[in-house]
Formats: sequence, C-alpha cells, structure tokens
Amino acid sequence: MPHPRVGIADLSIATTHYMIDHATLARHHGVDVAKYHRGIGQDAMSVPAPDEDIVTLAAAAAAPVLERHGTSALRTVLLATETGVDQSKAAGLYLHPLLRLPHTTRVVELKQACYAATAGLQFAAGLIARDPAHQVLVIATDIARYDTGTPAEATQGAASAAILVTADPGIAELESVTGVHSSHVMDFWRPNHRTTPVVDGKLSITTYLDATAHAYADYRRHGGRDLDDFAAFCYHQPFTAMAYKAHRHLLGTHGQAPSHDDLDTALAASTHYNRAVGNSYTASLYLALASLLDHRDELGGRHVGMLSYGSGCVAEFFCATVVPGYRDHLRATAHDHAVTARKPLAYDDYRSLHEFRIPADAGRHNVPEHTAGAFRLAAVEGHERIYETR
Ligand code: CAA
Repeated sequence: MPHPRVGIADLSIATTHYMIDHATLARHHGVDVAKYHRGIGQDAMSVPAPDEDIVTLAAAAAAPVLERHGTSALRTVLLATETGVDQSKAAGLYLHPLLRLPHTTRVVELKQACYAATAGLQFAAGLIARDPAHQVLVIATDIARYDTGTPAEATQGAASAAILVTADPGIAELESVTGVHSSHVMDFWRPNHRTTPVVDGKLSITTYLDATAHAYADYRRHGGRDLDDFAAFCYHQPFTAMAYKAHRHLLGTHGQAPSHDDLDTALAASTHYNRAVGNSYTASLYLALASLLDHRDELGGRHVGMLSYGSGCVAEFFCATVVPGYRDHLRATAHDHAVTARKPLAYDDYRSLHEFRIPADAGRHNVPEHTAGAFRLAAVEGHERIYETR
C-alpha cells in the first residue's frame, strides 16, 4: 500500500505575557549591547508571568488549532517539553478541561531536551501512515530559565508551538527520509533537584555543530536531498546566531564558504520570532518554521531543510516540502500579535519574576493574577495545579 502524504496541516505559536529587551539587560550587566544584538543575534526574550507555565503556553498555542480543525479526528496528543511540571503525569492531560479534548485520545509527554517535538512529528507520521484518518496534535512548550549572572542568562526565553499533523496536509509535507545522530554528551542537562540547567556553553555549541554535520551525513546516506535542493533552512535557535554558525559549519563540511548574504538568504526569514522570544527549547525549531513561512516570499513546492537539536544529544535532519496554497493556512497576524503584545519589564521586575517560586508545601497557594492570556495557573493546592480559562 503506498504511504499517504503526511505533514503539517496547521502551526500556531504562543508566548508569554512579559518580555525584557536585551538593551535593558546589557545596560544592567555592563555588557556592550552589540554582543547581544550581533554576537548572539537576540533583541529580547519572553519572561513568564507567575500565572503562566508550560501548560498555559501549550493551551494558548493549541486552542486556535482545535478551533479551526475540531477534535473529531484527533486521536493522539504528544506534548514535548524539557521543563515539565510533573515527574509522572503528562502535562497534556491538564489540557483536557482547558481545551475540551475528547476522551478518545492517547496523551503522552516526550522528553529529550530541545529535540523531543521532532520525535513527536516522526511518531505522528508513523501513526498516520497506519491510519490516514488519524490526526495528531504535537505540542512543543518550554520555559528556558538559567541562573542570573551566567553567560546563559542572555539566552533565556519561553514559547510554545502547536502542530497539527495529518494526511494530505495544507502547509508542509514531511518527507519520510530523515537523518539522525545521537551520543552521550554532558553539554547541558537538568538534574531533578535543580530548577535551572547545568550548562557547558562552549561544549554545547561544538556538540551542536558536530551533531548537525552527522545528522545531515546520515540523511544523505539514506537518500536525502543535496544541500542545493533547499530553498531555505530552519535550525533549532537557542539564540539566532547559532543557526548561522550551524549552517556555515554544514556548508563548510561540503566545501562551501558562504558569504553573510548567502546565509541571510537561507536563514534570515526563519529568525524573526526567535530573535524576539529567545530560546524556547522544544518549540524553537517550529517558531523558526512559522517565522519562515510567515515572512519569506512564496515557498509553495519548495523544500525546507530542518535541523532539530537537543543537548545530551540527539539531532535530526529532515525535509519539509511546502504545499502550494500554504499561505491560506498561516497565522502570521496572530503570531505577530503574540510577540508584539508582550509587556516590557523593568529590570528589577524581571529579577523578581526570575526569583518567583510557588511554595512546595501542601497548602493552598493562590497565584497572583498577571497574564492577559485566556489560560492561567490560578492556584496550587495539596500539590495539585489548578488552572482556569477566561
Ligand atoms: N560586539 C559584537 N559581537 C560580540 C561582542 C561585541 N561587543 N562581544 C562578543 N561578541 C560575540 C562573540 O565574538 C561571540 O561570537 P562568536 O561565537 O561568533 O565568536 C558571541 O558574541 C558570544 O560571545 P561569547 O562567546 O563571549 O559569549 P558567552 O561566553 O558570554 O556566552 C553562550 C555565549 C555560551 C552561548 C551562552 O550564552 C550560553 O551558555 N548559552 C546557553 C547554552 C546554549 O544556548 N548553547 C547553544 C547550543 S546547545 C543547544 O542549542 C540546546 C539548547 O537549546 C540549550
């Protein structure tokens, strides 16, 4: 039996109520702002309000998708995160009352640093190959928080992406050839007792570069496309300059020495959201795809090279072929609004939010109301997270 065409039927992103810009950060850290704007390629980063978390972000991204497509064919929800709220219960289950998910769905949480949403897409493609009537909602949702005063602080951020995977998709077809690479590397990890990760920044960059080259080599060994076949590339963007480093490295391993203009042509359109939002871990690659589709000139019928990277590490290279007519399915206005509607924080308020924690005892703790979003974490009582919809 021929495999059905499988891919992305809808893509919606969401981010937090607050942001801080890197000019403010640079002023308070005594750093030349050019290091942030040009060196790491970041203008601002999203900061979660006390009543926002990966569940409220996930709901905000997914609600418009379910509104447009309904839930009658939805059989699976795969939520990818590396900043989960529970060691046992899948965060996707909190979405049941918030989004009125049907009870006839399997719901599971996936983890492998920033890579896991890509695993979700591949698992979704497998499920749909078995039953093309099956729809899968893949949600990537994360809050990147690092210790203050560390080099990583400037690469924080938060966002979510909801990706509806179906047969005969309207936005992009996922080609079945992919290239993968994994190895045991301690470049970035977060032990259970820590609220912030342990990071070896320099090692994380070289590991990302190596993994990119290995994943693409594996992709080629499995019959994947030549680099010249791609109209654009989307990379995981912990900071947007990383996409430029990675693409230069990949082309370099194939004997090419791209100019900055060449790199801009391949990458610049994919960086708008990540430049403003910061690192969103699992969601970052899909913010890059949303940015590319929302901002680049016509891409119908063209191939986009996708590179997913998760520290630790796993990388995967795959191709998303843009479907003619895809523009009818985009959400550029809503995405732009999500980024521009954020409220800028003064530095001291950013620091207070960075320190904010809900007490870990079994009492009732009402969470102060900050977010203007439709979903909020209202309280934690008896260790149970209580959400509300407005
Ligand atoms: N004007 C312009 N550019 C400047 C500058 C100035 N005044 N000062 C410095 N720069 C440039 C530097 O030359 C450098 O550019 P190159 O890398 O091209 O040489 C860039 O700004 C950053 O400067 P440093 O290397 O000195 O930066 P740093 O040591 O302070 O920290 C970092 C950078 C290591 C990425 C740190 O932010 C970090 O640890 N971040 C978290 C880890 C991370 O994001 N790793 C990425 C790969 S891992 C991954 O992708 C998974 C994930 O999501 C975490």
